Amino acid sequence: MTDHLNTKRLHVITWGCQMNVYDSARMADVLAPIGYGPTEAPEAADMIILNTCHIRDRASEKVFSELGRLRVLKQAREAEGGRMILAVAGCVAQAEGKEILARAPYVDIVLGPQTYHRLPEMVALAARAGGAVIDTDFPTEQKFDFLPDEAAPQTPGGLSAFLTVQEGCDKFCSFCVVPYTRGAEASRKVASVLAEAKRMVAGGAREIALLGQNVNAYHGEGPDGSTWGLARLLYALADLGIPRLRYTTSHPRDMDDALIAAHRDLPALMPFLHLPVQSGSDRMLAAMNRKHKAADFMRIIERVREARPDMALSSDFIVGHPGETDADFADTMKLIREVGFALAYSFKYSARPGTPASGAPNQVADAVMDARLAELQAVLRQQQNDFNASCVGKTMDVLLTGHGRHPGQIAGRTPYLQPVHLQGDASVIGRIARVDISAAHPNSLSARLLDEPRLSASVSPLPTEEPACA
Ligand code: 5AD
Ligand code: SF4
Repeated sequence: MTDHLNTKRLHVITWGCQMNVYDSARMADVLAPIGYGPTEAPEAADMIILNTCHIRDRASEKVFSELGRLRVLKQAREAEGGRMILAVAGCVAQAEGKEILARAPYVDIVLGPQTYHRLPEMVALAARAGGAVIDTDFPTEQKFDFLPDEAAPQTPGGLSAFLTVQEGCDKFCSFCVVPYTRGAEASRKVASVLAEAKRMVAGGAREIALLGQNVNAYHGEGPDGSTWGLARLLYALADLGIPRLRYTTSHPRDMDDALIAAHRDLPALMPFLHLPVQSGSDRMLAAMNRKHKAADFMRIIERVREARPDMALSSDFIVGHPGETDADFADTMKLIREVGFALAYSFKYSARPGTPASGAPNQVADAVMDARLAELQAVLRQQQNDFNASCVGKTMDVLLTGHGRHPGQIAGRTPYLQPVHLQGDASVIGRIARVDISAAHPNSLSARLLDEPRLSASVSPLPTEEPACA
């Protein structure tokens, strides 16, 4: 797809999860055939897409303040007699599309996460129409089937690539907007996933992370018409010879036997599992509609560790869900102490309009949430430090992904997803190298190269890590 004439410039601003990072790349792909090429400079753009996130606090205020800033650029362009198309995409667009057009009438296009494949039509309409174009349907056709496969090589994602295999969620946790903004759970066909993975490998990928809001609920149609689960897909990807595989984000209810067995059988499947539990209190888990108990989660952790003894665990926690008492919070702290997490994301509950919990009478006071979050994060930080410290003196294989911040420094990732730095020549970038971990820091490790690295590929930095959801 390098033969398109990129006569117009596209600037995409991406907020939120890895799914949005992936979607932004796909929007750029569908716009390439109608002449849009990327620009880093918003003021130089003929079209700006703001790809938004609605998962937690103050999402819409953030969008309106950013739109205010972009409006100035658009007006400057118009003062010169030019035109700039302003589009708002993502979950805030889905949830609050009409509100956006009412409060920011200078926006040309509002589109939800399910309609990116229709962007070229919307751009054509916006270019013609005086008014704005809004498309926040949940169309009956699957977005996966309409995004152009052949566009993918333009944005192969570098050494460590993300590949969306599943989207949406049917779980309806009490606090979560995803089932409303991303729609029903849908899985991409196996053949399409494998084809994209092959293109990513051809483009230099050494690690592929499968993405989905509920990725372990994956149930894609196989080549023979049968339904494949995530485990079967992982075996097939490992058969392609991809050295490193990951998946995120998972729900405890979908951690089935086959997936646990895949962790035992597949050396390529990295020993790091992000499995959000949200709370350690059975009362809260029920109120959250998580449909499992704390003991079920503990049992899964035990089984995963049996399958892969060096498994590093990560999770998401919410403090202050409506009705959470001191005793409920103590149960969460107990679960955290029992598991011992390598990494975790924790949040103050934030009422999302339209979700069941937002209307609950027993909201928790902000000050109580602050105190609980501080206590919980102190323990999680300590666990992360302990985990990093436990790696010192060990040898491990790291994927070297780019230059570090300091001269002569090379950066990479351990199997456990820790950022790692070492002194080395730029020629090692792209390799999976054996290293000796020499020091631990709060968010990273230092290492020394041990032997000659084995394989090479091209360079690309890792995108920032934020869970896709679940
Ligand atoms: N308030 C706070 N945290 C939330 N999350 C999702 N919805 C909310 C909310 N309303 C968190 C969950 C989820 C992660 C991606 O974001 O912990 O796993
Ligand atoms: Fe679905 Fe995860 Fe949101 Fe629950 S928290 S509704 S599992 S996306």
